[in-house]
Parts: sequence; structure tokens; C-alpha cells
Amino acid sequence: MRAVIAQLPASKIREVANAGLGRGDVLAFWFGESDEVTPSFVREAAAESLARGETFYAHNLGLPELREAIARYVSSMHREVPGARIAVTSSGVSGLMIAMQALAGAGEEVVVVVPVWPNLTAQPAILGAEVKRFALHVRDGAWQLDLPALLATVTERTRVLLVNAPNNPTGWTLTREEQRAILAHCRRTGTWIVADEVYERLWFGPGDGPCPAAPSFADIAEPEDRLVIAHSFSKSFLMTGWRLGWLVAPAELMDALGKLIEFNTSCAPVFVQRGGLAALAQAETFVPGLVARMRVCRDTLLPRLAALPEVTVAPPMGGMYAFFRVEGEDDSLAFAKRLVADGGLGLAPGAAFGGEAEGWLRWCFASRDPARLVQGVERLAGALRL
Ligand SMILES: Cc1ncc(COP(=O)(O)O)c(C=O)c1O
Repeated sequence: MRAVIAQLPASKIREVANAGLGRGDVLAFWFGESDEVTPSFVREAAAESLARGETFYAHNLGLPELREAIARYVSSMHREVPGARIAVTSSGVSGLMIAMQALAGAGEEVVVVVPVWPNLTAQPAILGAEVKRFALHVRDGAWQLDLPALLATVTERTRVLLVNAPNNPTGWTLTREEQRAILAHCRRTGTWIVADEVYERLWFGPGDGPCPAAPSFADIAEPEDRLVIAHSFSKSFLMTGWRLGWLVAPAELMDALGKLIEFNTSCAPVFVQRGGLAALAQAETFVPGLVARMRVCRDTLLPRLAALPEVTVAPPMGGMYAFFRVEGEDDSLAFAKRLVADGGLGLAPGAAFGGEAEGWLRWCFASRDPARLVQGVERLAGALRL
């Protein structure tokens, strides 16, 4: 086995979840998904596709009608994008891996803004690229970007800048001005930007236009910019188990993406793509309702967490996570395991997202039932008194 694979760390979130296995009494908020099932109109569209016998291989880059529908959806929020610049992928994570395979070779430098979902640092490492971590820092409990320091880190040597905003786990989001500065800088250095914007619709900040979304590179980039944006059906359409996502990329990359999809998964399953089409057809009736429910969850959890004397937390502008620290608890893995064992509360340890997030905990607040969050805070408060 390649050494780099042997050295990949096992998931620390799984480690905590395994500690709670078989315990039905644990209130679990450790994984990045809602406990709400995929909307029925999406499930029905996939079931009908299967009933029609759509069980065959399909286009590498996705069904033409889905590529067009995605392009219309993206264009309704951002600058106009044609279907020809959309690649349908078998999940967001697969799209991100394919983008990285297209862009970063062995030994090439990939700068990743951290803390971040660990897959984003593992993927370039698996490809043999040289991963350089650029850390956000904390001010008043909130994670912040030192923009001049990031721009000084990204040089002509940097092949790819990988940035996830709204960010998992911190909730930090790039501002439009920061995006402009990063884009202008990367044009000068010849660096590709891979923007993971899978949480763009889970946005609690100010919105303009009919489809509020977090600031996106898609609002400011030109079609030929060296920019790949990764998206997913998982989060805004409650489709985590479907494994469906897409990339927006410049025309020059599309043939390469098609080849790489052929060698990775060949195509996304047609019945899954039909589910995606149904999701997009009702996006603007479904997503705003989902975001409103998530906002209730966020506004239920955050003030209660912040009211605990030992806790430091800042409200996230986007995503579905509260990221917080508890005074005196510096070993997040041990603390998360203790919360499972003694408190019946399942959270993700900050250490899962890199050393920069050690001492922090991530709480996914996406839930059908905000009362679960209230109960969870009571359990945390109880555990802190132990
Ligand atoms: C930051 C980020 N990017 C991408 C993904 C990928 O989502 P999926 O592979 O389910 O489409 C996730 C999932 O948790 C994520 O947190």
C-alpha cells in the first residue's frame, strides 16, 4: 500500500459515534446531515424512473436535461452559466476529488483554508500533492480570515487554492470583497481556485434577489477564470444518501472532467439524476422552507449554548453547524467521548477537522424537531456540572 494511504487518519467523528453504538439513548448531532427524510416528490421521481426501467449507463457529464436544469438554477442565483459548463457528479465529494485529479499532480502545492471538513485535505494528499494548511483564526469566538496572509501564502508555486465557504465546521463565510481579492490574486499567480460551496443555500445572512445564497465566486468570475465550484444535492435538498452533486468549471476543463468521471464512476445513476431534476424543479418552493426550519434550529441552539458560562460560540452565517469551545476542555476527542458516555450527547470533536480546531466541538443543528436541540443543551449543561 502507498505510505500516504496508510498514514491517512481514521475519522475521529466515527470514533466518537462508535463509542455510542448500540446506545439508543444518545442524542446524536455528530454527522453533517438532517434527520429529515428526502422530500417525497424527489423520491417519487426516482421511483418512477426505476419503474420505467432507467437502469443503464448514461452520459459521463450527466443527463443533458439535468445539466441544463442545473445551469438554470445556478444562473438564477449568479452570473449566467451554460449547461455545457456543468458536470454532474456522483456526490459533492466525488466532484471535489475529480476536480483535484484534474488540477493537482504529485508534488504540486495545494493551499487549503482550515479548519475544514477533513476530506478536503485528504483528497490532494491521496493524489500525492503537497498540502499547505492556511489557518483561520479566532476573534471574539468567531473564525476570521487574515486575507493579506492568505494572499502571501498563495504564490506562483500554488497550483490550487481550496476554500470551503460557508465553512464546515466553523460557519465562517467569505465576504464578496474577500472573494474579489482572492480571484484577482489567483489570476496573477495562475492558481486554480476550487470553491466548495455546497452550503451556499443554507445562508442566514442578508440576501439580495429572489434566491438568497451566500456570496459565491459564481457572482464575480468570468467564464474562462481558473475556477471550479463544487456543489451537492445533499444539504439543500436533504439528499445525503443519494450521492449527487455537480461542478461548475470553465469550458477548457470539461473534456478532462468527462474522462475522469468515466474512470471514477462512469456516470451518476439515471434514477438518481431524475431525483435531482425533480428537486431543482421545486427548488424555490422547497429550499426557502428548509432554510427557515434551519434558522429556527440555529436560533434555538445558539443562544442556549452561548448562555452556558463555560461556552464560547459565535452564530454561524451559513451552513448547519454550531462550532464552540468549552473552557478547560482542550482535548476534544476525549471530551466528545465523555459526553457520549456520561451525558448521552453525540457531538463531533474539533480535532476531526485538524489541529487548528482542537479544543472545539461541532454540533449539527439540522433537525426536524428543535426540541431535540433544547434537550441536547440540557444534557451538555448537566455534563458540565459533573
Ligand atoms: C464542506 C463539504 N463539502 C462537501 C461535502 C460533500 O457532500 P456530499 O458528498 O454528500 O455531496 C460535505 C459533506 O459533508 C461538506 O461538509
